[in-house]
Amino acid sequence: MSKGRLLSGMQPTGMLHLGNLEGALANWVKLQDEYEAFFFVANWHALTTMLDRTEEIKRYTRAVATDFLAAGLDPNKCAVFVQSDIKEHAELHLLLSMATPIGWLERVPTFKEKQEQLHLETVSYGLMGYPVLMSSDILIYKANAVPVGQDQLPHLELTREIGRRFNYIFGDIFPECEGLMTEYAAMPGLDGRKMSKSYNNAIYIADTAEETETKVRSMYTDPLKMRKTDPGHPAGCAVYNLLKTYGRADMHEDCEAGRIGCVECKKRLAAFLNDRLAPIRERRMELEQHPEKLDEILAAGAEKARKVARATMVEIRAAMHLD
Ligand code: TRP
Ligand code: SF4
Repeated sequence: MSKGRLLSGMQPTGMLHLGNLEGALANWVKLQDEYEAFFFVANWHALTTMLDRTEEIKRYTRAVATDFLAAGLDPNKCAVFVQSDIKEHAELHLLLSMATPIGWLERVPTFKEKQEQLHLETVSYGLMGYPVLMSSDILIYKANAVPVGQDQLPHLELTREIGRRFNYIFGDIFPECEGLMTEYAAMPGLDGRKMSKSYNNAIYIADTAEETETKVRSMYTDPLKMRKTDPGHPAGCAVYNLLKTYGRADMHEDCEAGRIGCVECKKRLAAFLNDRLAPIRERRMELEQHPEKLDEILAAGAEKARKVARATMVEIRAAMHLD
């Protein structure tokens, strides 16, 4: 029945937006029925870039977990937990680090990108070890499948390399994990660029319906289409492109022929998004009104995760003569 064990996580570096929802979360919700699944908030990973903002990490950790549940992750079907609740990840991280040549880490493309992006004059040991921590997240649950975005593939490759090396030295402990890609096209943001919290062009799951309407009203459309009757060019229009990702771009011809105007079009988009998000936002509000419920769910999720993580650690300690 189950296709095996599946694990994924997200860093609590901000609120989750439509891109996170349609690109990852919605897929996780389907996968929880097919696999023995583990989903967690990677709050230790967030320390690599937000060490001076740990209160924010704490706030986002709860917000992201709330979004997970609101989007439809069901704690009766899968484990939803916070990374730092399972200390075993840190122990395995240390042990894996012994089997990871520094050269492998220097070659990870995300490492160089982050180094440049953040204008860091020095790089922390923790940032360099980011993919080793991610490997421990995956390997400690002996996950077979890891749904991630394209950008995370180098990390999965490294996970396989570390796992293989570990198996070679200490015997068969870890299975080979596989990335699960979604075909979902990148979600365009309010300005037509890829939706991203760093571009300030996102619609957030936690936004209200009114905020969503205001954001959509401010969206960039075809600048040549001043009036409804002007012929428009939907290809370069962010409103059109967002609707297209939902297969709802049936105004293409009406736009070109001047039969629909941008005001009407934006109304349709806002209404569509608010419909899509309404049940999620409702569950979100409910969880926010009962913080103790979230605590309970995360404690139960951690309990489930810890059981598996502990069993793996017993095996690893024995193989390494640390028992
Ligand atoms: N690095 C992932 C990201 O930024 C988050 C993450 C941490 C993760 N540990 C993981 C994803 C383990 C999958 C499996 O998106
Ligand atoms: Fe874009 Fe719609 Fe305006 Fe055409 S009518 S330019 S698709 S918002």
